[in-house]
Amino acid sequence: MKVVEATNFKTPIEHLYPKISDEGKELFQQGIEKYSAAKSVFYQVAELVKTEVEKWTTTTGKNPTYGQIRRHLLANDLVKELGKMRTDPAGFAFNAARADIQGDLEYQQRMKNWENTAKERLNLNPELEIPTYVSRPNFHWSPYIATNDWEEQFLGCVWDIGTSIMGQSSPTVRSYSLGGGRLSRMVNYLSERFPNFKPRRILDMGCSAGGSTIAMAIEFPDAEVHGIDISSSMLRCGHAVSVALDLPIYYHQMDASHTTFGDGSFDLIVSNIVFHELPNGIRRKVILECSRLLSPGGIMAHMEGGTYMSPTNIFQKLWRELDIHGNNEWYVGNASMEKLATYVEEAGLSTQGSLLQKITPSSEFFEGALLIGGQKI
Ligand SMILES: C[S@@+](CC[C@H](N)C(=O)[O-])C[C@H]1O[C@@H](n2cnc3c(N)ncnc32)[C@H](O)[C@@H]1O
Repeated sequence: MKVVEATNFKTPIEHLYPKISDEGKELFQQGIEKYSAAKSVFYQVAELVKTEVEKWTTTTGKNPTYGQIRRHLLANDLVKELGKMRTDPAGFAFNAARADIQGDLEYQQRMKNWENTAKERLNLNPELEIPTYVSRPNFHWSPYIATNDWEEQFLGCVWDIGTSIMGQSSPTVRSYSLGGGRLSRMVNYLSERFPNFKPRRILDMGCSAGGSTIAMAIEFPDAEVHGIDISSSMLRCGHAVSVALDLPIYYHQMDASHTTFGDGSFDLIVSNIVFHELPNGIRRKVILECSRLLSPGGIMAHMEGGTYMSPTNIFQKLWRELDIHGNNEWYVGNASMEKLATYVEEAGLSTQGSLLQKITPSSEFFEGALLIGGQKI
């Protein structure tokens, strides 16, 4: 297994969109300014939480739980401002991306040409039902995630550029959290524990515009790589980018909780930042589906933000709660390591003592990345 540094990876848009129009640059810059402003409030709120915890401890002689000081913190103006700042810049980033793409006919033409090449590797299913748990939330104000609108063929690209703008100056760094960065850490982690593991068929669930799928194709050049997503526009963008990069990836429009692949079809099944956007019942179904799809000895490895899935202190719990409302992350609040562990066990997968845990160091504010994994015995 090839070990690759995370920094070698680019997001799809970084591969293909070096030329941004003047209007786009202007919007992009404004987006970054909004995020920088949000960052400064972020640090002030972190200080505020520290002070409030100290006050509580001095008065009562005990450390507070999040539940005990939650209402007090949420009533604070600075905290309210931070919540709002999770809303505004995200909506802005996607509108900027959309305006930019609409103004760039050359880019549109290039993407259309790529999309129409190697069509046998793009399997769309207009009949696939988009579940309401995906279509309703409007996650982080990107209304494009689960669209199936055939007229809106560039919405996947809008998502890709929009998240790129969002990631430029948010407290988590895009190259790390999206696409290849996090997955390359996961691959390094697996390669240390399973040095002889050489997957021949790989599935990326919830692949969006191909960021994580392309990362896997680069990591495992000899494997056959498949990406699935519920959204046709995401897959169309991912397919176009993969064609442009000359990577023979197969994209399919499927629901990760009940795919149409046969039993034992894959040796490695991955996902990146998908689980936090699923309700618990669907997380469970996806893990059961992975168990069905894995060949004996095959490995499931889903990557997630540790702060969303398993926050460990009051500041992280507050941040997660602000994201539920301010960033429309409806399902992060009901996640926990314990529940995930139950689902993995129920699916008959072995965690091998180390496949369900945080696998990167935590920073001053956020938890390390969580691997939700298991091996088919
Ligand atoms: C945050 S994005 C994933 C990002 C991507 N893996 C990357 O690293 O660039 C979540 C994706 O999951 C997809 N999704 C949500 N529920 C799904 C389901 N049940 N089946 C397949 N895809 C799903 C959404 O359409 C969306 O594209």
